Amino acid sequence: MPKVIDNKPLSDFIWQMRIEVPHLVSKARAGQFVILRVNDTGERVPMSIAGLDREKGLLTVIYQVVGKTSALMTGVPDSGEISDCVGPLGLASHVDNWGTACVVGGGIGIAPIYPIAQAYKEGGNKLHTIIGARSKDLLFYEEEHRAVADQVHVCTDDGSYGHHGFVSDVLKKLLDDGEKIGMVMAIGPVPMMRVVANLTRDYNVPTWVSLNPLMVDGTGMCGGCRVSVGNETKFACVDGPDFDGHKVDFDLLTSRLSAYRPQERKVMKKLLEDPNCRLSKAVKAFKYPDE
Ligand code: FES
Repeated sequence: MPKVIDNKPLSDFIWQMRIEVPHLVSKARAGQFVILRVNDTGERVPMSIAGLDREKGLLTVIYQVVGKTSALMTGVPDSGEISDCVGPLGLASHVDNWGTACVVGGGIGIAPIYPIAQAYKEGGNKLHTIIGARSKDLLFYEEEHRAVADQVHVCTDDGSYGHHGFVSDVLKKLLDDGEKIGMVMAIGPVPMMRVVANLTRDYNVPTWVSLNPLMVDGTGMCGGCRVSVGNETKFACVDGPDFDGHKVDFDLLTSRLSAYRPQERKVMKKLLEDPNCRLSKAVKAFKYPDE
């Protein structure tokens, strides 16, 4: 079973786990993902790759507590184990030299955009990185991004740090100021990716987005991760996760992502109400935004 080297909170509900999977790490490339299970009866959850330490064979994933499985993940101790970790899955991000490129990470998307930023930089691009979160306490990896990009632009929705506003405001300003951006890559909440794609369409800047539909097998067999891109059905796990943002049907993606929300809430509630639940106080205080 894969060993968890360490598992720590970056804020109350955003955690970083490093897993020893040398075989997987030796093959993985930026943009790919893994599927892991916390325990033998647990669901299979897709996780973006946030970091690869090839020397030590360590995979880094960053996850946000949004339901039962992510809550259970916070309970895995340092030097503990998870049931399995399969991958690398999906296609690696396309990397080229576009002159100037821009990566945009919103919320938990700040993590998977990081290895892609590294790959774009290694591809010889001048790189703008825009990262944003609802508030300062939900931001992370700023220093890591600063070590890679030529310019890092930080925003918060509430103005508690950096630019007061959205990642798309900063991107619009760069484009309006005449920065010749040859490629944009955006990862984050669906509404954010949709806004970025709508913006860059107007400026004729090619844009990739990394899609995060529900997945089961991760190998193209179950159809769970079906998305529509340019009116064609694609499976995010084998045809993606990166797709042309200007062609993605974001309405379909949004509705499919919420298909099991009532069930997700029910099992999370049951977990948190269980008197034997041994998760941290902060995680036990989890509430959905509308509660
Ligand atoms: S997760 Fe089953 S087809 Fe993609």
